[in-house]
Amino acid sequence: YREQIPIDKGFDNSLAMMREGYLYITNRRKRFGRDMFETRLLGGQKAICIAGDEAVKMFYDESKIMRKGAAPKRVKQTLFGEKAIQTMDDASHKHRKQLFMSLMTDKRLEDVVDIFKKEWAAAVEVWESKNEVILYNEAIKVLAVTACNWAGVPLDKDDVDLRASQLEALFDSAAAVGPRHWKGRHARNALELWLQQLIEDVRNGNLKVPEETALHQMALYRDSNGEHLNTHVTAVEVLNIIRPIVAIAVYIVFVALALFEKAGEKEKLSNAEDDVYEMFVQEVRRYYPFFPFAAGRAREDFLWKGHDFKKGNLVLLDIYGTNHHPNLWENPDQFIPERFKERQESPYDLVPQGGGDYYTGHRCPGEWLTVEIMKSSLDLLINRMDYHVPKQDLSYSMMRMPSLPKSRFVMNQVKKI
Ligand code: HEM
Repeated sequence: YREQIPIDKGFDNSLAMMREGYLYITNRRKRFGRDMFETRLLGGQKAICIAGDEAVKMFYDESKIMRKGAAPKRVKQTLFGEKAIQTMDDASHKHRKQLFMSLMTDKRLEDVVDIFKKEWAAAVEVWESKNEVILYNEAIKVLAVTACNWAGVPLDKDDVDLRASQLEALFDSAAAVGPRHWKGRHARNALELWLQQLIEDVRNGNLKVPEETALHQMALYRDSNGEHLNTHVTAVEVLNIIRPIVAIAVYIVFVALALFEKAGEKEKLSNAEDDVYEMFVQEVRRYYPFFPFAAGRAREDFLWKGHDFKKGNLVLLDIYGTNHHPNLWENPDQFIPERFKERQESPYDLVPQGGGDYYTGHRCPGEWLTVEIMKSSLDLLINRMDYHVPKQDLSYSMMRMPSLPKSRFVMNQVKKI
């Protein structure tokens, strides 16, 4: 069968998308009573918005959806970088994805957690002497040091503040306009130049870094043609490791927020086993907004659920909406970690970091690392320090991307335990 799907009328609905943010797709799905509708975005391009587990499955079917030409320029200029893995398809994508996945061994995941714990412990000593600590800003710095150390990127003590702020700008600027956007573009240029020099130094033997690190592996990586990536693309991919590790700061703040705001959660976690921590962290990733949607393009003409997709159509997978889909989650707008207790795992329903398969598709290679760092931060917040949460504006916007509590989570009377 073929049918006309609902259309969100207008020549360009980008403004509505900016105004409604994470809820733009959800609001229209509710209004139209369908998980699929057509709109015009990004300079009036036709786009098909889809949500739900079947939509995730279709979106990650590479015979239907490709990434070539899907990422908006402003996103490549800030978040992703040019010629990054996010924009690749087929054999060359799989080859490069193998490089990313090879960095995520159990041993290397233990390493990153160890580095993170050590850096956090050192930071707590400093926080103890301060009147007030802004968790988001502090987590950005701890994670920047952790990311660089883990990735083999030498980072001078004096440069921590600068590099941390540049790395933050990469993910803070992609959806922004004006100065907040430009900060991200300048930061990308500066970070790429810095890393390109380090990559050359590794290649010509002037800089020795441990073999298992991302910097080493990426500098010496050979693509499916047996060639090194040029230094620019290599820098883009090293940033694809260290930038998103810094972005875990957003989730750490939401972990702290849930601990503070959700009654009874903290008590459940004291002296709890690892699986209780894991459920809490999964619920934070499901419940709070972070990545709004993923973008692809129809590879060919095809029919799906009654709609004629035309080759080249932009397709937006509603990530936030799928994580809150009423057919997939009972009481989706309530924070209930226990929902994960006996839940059958599926690659198509919990999709804060994309869905489908890690190796063959675009699902986030950093998902395990993210979960481990979040679990560790939860343990550190509960068992390794005491703190007071003074009165502040902890509300978070559904328009700002990425969303964050307005106050960035202020703590005082920090004490290590
Ligand atoms: C891809 C989210 C952390 C590296 C993605 C995608 C999402 C995502 C939504 C896109 C999926 C798609 O296009 O279909 C997040 C969130 C994180 C996070 C919310 C929390 C901070 C990480 C970490 C790393 C990482 C820690 C690396 C250490 C990547 C890379 C890709 C990716 C390289 C592109 C994969 C590909 O195109 O095949 N992530 N991510 N991310 N992520 Fe993450």
